[in-house]
Amino acid sequence: MLDGKRILLVISGGIAAYKSLILIRRLRERGAKVRCILSKGGAQFVTPLSVSALSHEKAYLDQFSLTDESEMGHLRLSQEADLVVVAPATADILAKMAHGLADELATTVLLASAAPILVAPAMNHRMWLHPATLENMHKLELRGVKRVGPNQGPLAEDEMGIGRMAEPEEILAAIEAQFRAGGRLAGLRALVTSGPTHEAIDPVRYIANRSSGKQGHAIAAALAELGAETVLVSGPTALADPPGVSVFRIESARDMLTACERALPVEVAVCAAAVADWRVAAAADQKIKKNGGPDAPSLTLAENPDILATLSQPGNRRPRLVVGFAAETENVVVNARVKRAKKGCDWILANDVAPGTGTFGGDRNTIHLVTEKGVETWPTLAKDQVARKLAERIAETLRPAAA
Ligand code: PMT
Repeated sequence: MLDGKRILLVISGGIAAYKSLILIRRLRERGAKVRCILSKGGAQFVTPLSVSALSHEKAYLDQFSLTDESEMGHLRLSQEADLVVVAPATADILAKMAHGLADELATTVLLASAAPILVAPAMNHRMWLHPATLENMHKLELRGVKRVGPNQGPLAEDEMGIGRMAEPEEILAAIEAQFRAGGRLAGLRALVTSGPTHEAIDPVRYIANRSSGKQGHAIAAALAELGAETVLVSGPTALADPPGVSVFRIESARDMLTACERALPVEVAVCAAAVADWRVAAAADQKIKKNGGPDAPSLTLAENPDILATLSQPGNRRPRLVVGFAAETENVVVNARVKRAKKGCDWILANDVAPGTGTFGGDRNTIHLVTEKGVETWPTLAKDQVARKLAERIAETLRPAAA
């Protein structure tokens, strides 16, 4: 799959650098040519000797090494790569990339490179969740930098949280997805919504639903696999980010709408999220106390914006193809037809979410595809198969010449 592809791997200074050694081996097993740059910090965690032994190439270290500059200047290093991978990508290197710093070989090459860049962030969870890091990452993603991870799990210093570098196999999958950019949906932008939304009652309580995000995440992965530049706007889920997809995590329906509007323009939008139809009209600023009396508090609800209907509105920002879902517990197809007309989308994937179907949270789904041509019932499939079938359908529709 990666035969002859030239990967430039930048290893910056984090404990996860040891996993990059496994990545080098996996890349070479797939036929890639791997050249590595160790940042000053990276060289504190892994040795140039182990990197060059695994990559079968010299490990590049310091911008001002006369030997490096005479053998292979930083410009050549940056030009002779089909993909630059930064793994681990520390908060420091992400900040330098976002602000265009070139203070050592690694950052200079990143600034000079015209090749696509994939980063695998790895850091303490407080550093990852710091607004400065999130802003830097957002800035880089808007420039087209792809990201894999970070994952949730045990971190250094015996802490738990989000910040763990994606596993070498996940990074490899993201690299392969990047090279599939020659796929049928290459050059096309896709937006997918996934998961539930959380609507605050007070700072500790919220209204939510049973969506796990499995279906929406699988669709984002399938579109990226076909080469689409895919943005996933996801409510809170326990799932890892799909490889090669730019993920924006939100909580409420209103946040989801804002993130979707920011992702425009796109050629195709797929709304698989189970968006809360209502929010609490005035969420309390402080935790609501039990007053010991007989009366439970009552909540006044306000209607949330409808993201699918908003994206479907005619105009020059409307995606060429807007796909919604219909989660129904009765009269599935009849209700889905009504929903398609009411929301103005092109296709609706209707699924039965009645208790006992296992559609919410489960791994399988039975879809009735409702289009202007009629209704097509698919066999019960694994959610990733549903996703691939839908992605193929989207490719046939938007790229008919390649079908
Ligand atoms: O996440 P999983 O556990 O894998 O489960 C998958 C799923 C059941 C959540 C998924 O297959 C699904 O059906 N998603 C849509 C859920 C839903 O909210 O359906 P709905 O019939 O209430 O809404 C219809 C459509 O309008 C959906 O595309 C929904 O994303 C969209 N919508 C709804 C309300 C709203 N305020 N904004 C919206 O965009």
